[in-house]
Amino acid sequence: DLTAEQQHFDHLISEDSRVEPRDWMPEAYRKSLTRQVSQHAHSEIIGMQPEANWITRAPSLKRKAVLMAKVQDEAGHGLYLYSAAETLGTPRSVLNEQLLSGKAKYSSIFNYPARTWADMGAIGWLVDGAAICNQVPLCRASYGPYGRAMVRICKEESFHQRQGWEILYELSHGTEAQKQMAQDAVNRFYGPALQMFGPPDADSPNSQQSMQWNIKRFSNDELRQRFVDMIVPQAEALGLTLPDPDLKWNEERGHYDYGQLDWDEFMSVIQGSGPCNVQRMKRRREAHANGAWVREAAEAYAQRQAREAAE
Ligand code: ACO
Repeated sequence: DLTAEQQHFDHLISEDSRVEPRDWMPEAYRKSLTRQVSQHAHSEIIGMQPEANWITRAPSLKRKAVLMAKVQDEAGHGLYLYSAAETLGTPRSVLNEQLLSGKAKYSSIFNYPARTWADMGAIGWLVDGAAICNQVPLCRASYGPYGRAMVRICKEESFHQRQGWEILYELSHGTEAQKQMAQDAVNRFYGPALQMFGPPDADSPNSQQSMQWNIKRFSNDELRQRFVDMIVPQAEALGLTLPDPDLKWNEERGHYDYGQLDWDEFMSVIQGSGPCNVQRMKRRREAHANGAWVREAAEAYAQRQAREAAE
């Protein structure tokens, strides 16, 4: 027999309404959402690193201001998402510990180096573009705090994608060397950006249940296809080539076919052996340690406030 609580939860899901922190929810739902939302938060925070490396090397004051704003947005996204994850019951300090100890995953894409200024363009256009494709449907995720956080995040991601596209457009219409630099960045980020959507559906252990719970609305492969269909005409408008000889329009399916992705590489990156995993985690641990005095000051202040309120 289903409990009244379970029935209420099932009803919320079946009528496609929202589950809020005060509602009873199955432990498996709470656990899987905590996993996804915290991994998402970690990705935003680690994702600041490849671009932050270029702030001091941006080619103009304007580019520098835009890039700084963008990197700060990512920090903000991490904070909204940690707040959303905390409403599920796990404190942020615990989530953070899971990241620092290497127990929690973060997006594979941020383990690739940003080698040139054109990478700022490719990251904005392809990485943030993939993020939007994946995240717009998450605005309708069944868990209220997650869905609401995603709305604001998606608006900011749209600006991020647009600024990346514009960097690439300028470069691809510049000198031959600049065009080459833009092409090289796209060559390196195309495959890893497609892998951001996660493993193929047949190898995605969480998808089916997440879709039944209205957390995910589309499968990994469906969103990947949507992304490929979106970027092909955009690449043409940029005058750049997507590095996939198998990419071609399939009249019957009404979609672009694309080539096999390197899933061995993906597995090795998410298991910690990508080109920058060690560097990213080292940097994050250092930043956390450097922030200790802020946490201590905030804690001392909170204690004083509590003492004064009690007096
Ligand atoms: N990088 C790292 N890990 C990944 C990736 C990836 N690109 N894709 C899948 N995984 C992990 C999953 O987290 C899962 O690991 P776990 O079971 O240990 O938690 C495992 O691989 C199997 O994948 P799925 O069963 O397909 O996992 P899931 O249903 O959670 O789908 C997805 C993965 C699509 C990434 C989903 O979690 C999601 O939509 N997350 C929110 C978006 C997000 O995190 N974006 C971060 C990058 S964008 C940005 O920050 C700008």
